Amino acid sequence: MEVGKAIFERRSVRFFNERQIDTSILREILIAGIYAPSAGNLQPWEFYCYCQPDSVDRIRSVSPGIMGKPKAIIVACMNEKKIKEQKLERWASNAIIDVSMACQNMMLRAFELGVGSCPVTSFENDTLAKALALPSYVKTLILIALGYYDKLPQTPPRDESVIHIETQSCDKPSQEQAKITENAINFATAILGFLVTSAKINTREPPSYAIMRLLEAASKICEYLASSYPERHDISESIKNELDTASSLYFIGDDSYISHLEKALEQYLHLLSS
Ligand SMILES: Cc1cc2nc3c(=O)[nH]c(=O)nc-3n(C[C@H](O)[C@H](O)[C@H](O)COP(=O)(O)O)c2cc1C
Repeated sequence: MEVGKAIFERRSVRFFNERQIDTSILREILIAGIYAPSAGNLQPWEFYCYCQPDSVDRIRSVSPGIMGKPKAIIVACMNEKKIKEQKLERWASNAIIDVSMACQNMMLRAFELGVGSCPVTSFENDTLAKALALPSYVKTLILIALGYYDKLPQTPPRDESVIHIETQSCDKPSQEQAKITENAINFATAILGFLVTSAKINTREPPSYAIMRLLEAASKICEYLASSYPERHDISESIKNELDTASSLYFIGDDSYISHLEKALEQYLHLLSS
């Protein structure tokens, strides 16, 4: 059985038929419990499984939460002796989590094996411990009623509004992200047109104009970066200033334009590392 099927189709079964559960099946279910994760792999649990009718009845008599007549009951406990040995308070709360995880494992495995289960916490702890003569160092956290069933109950509704997932970059883009992408596409399209037409008309212009067209294209790119990425605004603007100055100096034949290109390149390195 797929794990997903067990997760989604398991139900709390409260009414069972008369079929007995083989000890080997009970053992399979319990083994699934001890394969649950536990903090520090402490395994701070003890599981007692009762399947004799008088034991089951004794548990039922002090556990109003058990409806119907299960054929077996797992008494899932935390081992307080093991927890105290850790000398850290948080192990006690971890143990509750650990035992709960083990119980879920057991209920899913039971479902896979065709056995219905129901977790139960409505029981009288002290009376139960005495009725079963449980060791003093264990505390019962949950009972799991087990039995074969004729019909699974309907799925009680689930509230999906409790799920909060942070959007990832690979997810459907947000409106803001979509706008940025659209701007980038528009910009790339425009600069493509500018460069190709510049190359074409350069056949009719002095070859030196090619440099001015390149500088103009680079200046447009800076303008785009400055307007689209606030965190790159200042540095893009200052590169653009150097490029525009270089372009006007180049136009009048002033060789000092090279020094402005060098400054632009220096700033470009900062842009790269920003
Ligand atoms: C900690 C805990 C205690 C529960 N106690 C009882 C109980 O005392 N009696 C009972 O019939 N069901 C009990 N349930 C079962 C819940 O009612 C059941 O899980 C819930 O209604 C959702 O139904 P489902 O398990 O079929 O998905 C308990 C469940 C949990 C997790």
